[in-house]
Amino acid sequence: MDLEQFKTWVHKEFGIDLFAYKSNQLHRRILSLMSRVGAKDIDEYVKLLKSDYGQRQKFLDFITINVTEFFRNPELFKELQKEIEIYSKEKNINLKIWSAACSIGAEPYSLAMILDNLKNKNKHSILATDIDNTILERAKAAEYVISELKNVDKIYLDKYFKKIDDKYTIDTGIKNMVTFKKHDLILDDYEKNFDLIVCRNVVIYFNQDVKDKIYEKFSDSLKKGGLLFVGATESIYNYKDYGFEKASTFIYRKQ
Ligand SMILES: C[S@@+](CC[C@H](N)C(=O)[O-])C[C@H]1O[C@@H](n2cnc3c(N)ncnc32)[C@H](O)[C@@H]1O
Repeated sequence: MDLEQFKTWVHKEFGIDLFAYKSNQLHRRILSLMSRVGAKDIDEYVKLLKSDYGQRQKFLDFITINVTEFFRNPELFKELQKEIEIYSKEKNINLKIWSAACSIGAEPYSLAMILDNLKNKNKHSILATDIDNTILERAKAAEYVISELKNVDKIYLDKYFKKIDDKYTIDTGIKNMVTFKKHDLILDDYEKNFDLIVCRNVVIYFNQDVKDKIYEKFSDSLKKGGLLFVGATESIYNYKDYGFEKASTFIYRKQ
């Protein structure tokens, strides 16, 4: 089996579309993982993946890369907070927000804290999705260690977290604002009518065609005037092609 055939096999076996990923980077990473687990060629690695649950999990974790933290790039979150405050004051509605590729929940819970501090106390909701079921279970448990909370303001830390031993658990009110669901950005349909979509540090792994489709679908899923917040290395240069205008470097507004 060669790498292209391996990708077809992975699609059948795991339902993950590796053709969507930037190929040079992905191939390098797969070969390095194979050598780390001691597989001498792809056939041997496939045998391992067929028979060993631990290896399957390791492979999925490796492909999906779920590094995250609360208020990742805090200065950008401050900008987002300002935009949300203006938007919610103007509209005065229940905001519908989507944190796409949410990993262990740090991102949607950061958003929930921002919403909870808005003057407009409507019933805001956050849909938080990820392709990885294991990570979603961690997100629902909402338990974190202090290193994951380094950007959380002291006021928020005191207000929204309870410390038990060395674990910090999130306040139930914040938890209840977020609904977690499995969703694949490449293969699944997108819900509509969002006021804000936050999708950060995942499209960077995808090739340009796939990125194009994702941004088109995000644009379709947003209300007119709704916002898209992307990662700190993910500026969209051709934002106009998807019907966006720039609200700030990493925030786009659907026109
Ligand atoms: C680096 S984390 C980013 C987490 C968070 N958005 C942030 O910026 O801190 C990338 C996440 O994307 C998820 N992911 C990877 N491929 C995906 C796909 N096709 N659809 C949905 N989520 C995906 C991974 O499981 C992982 O949790």
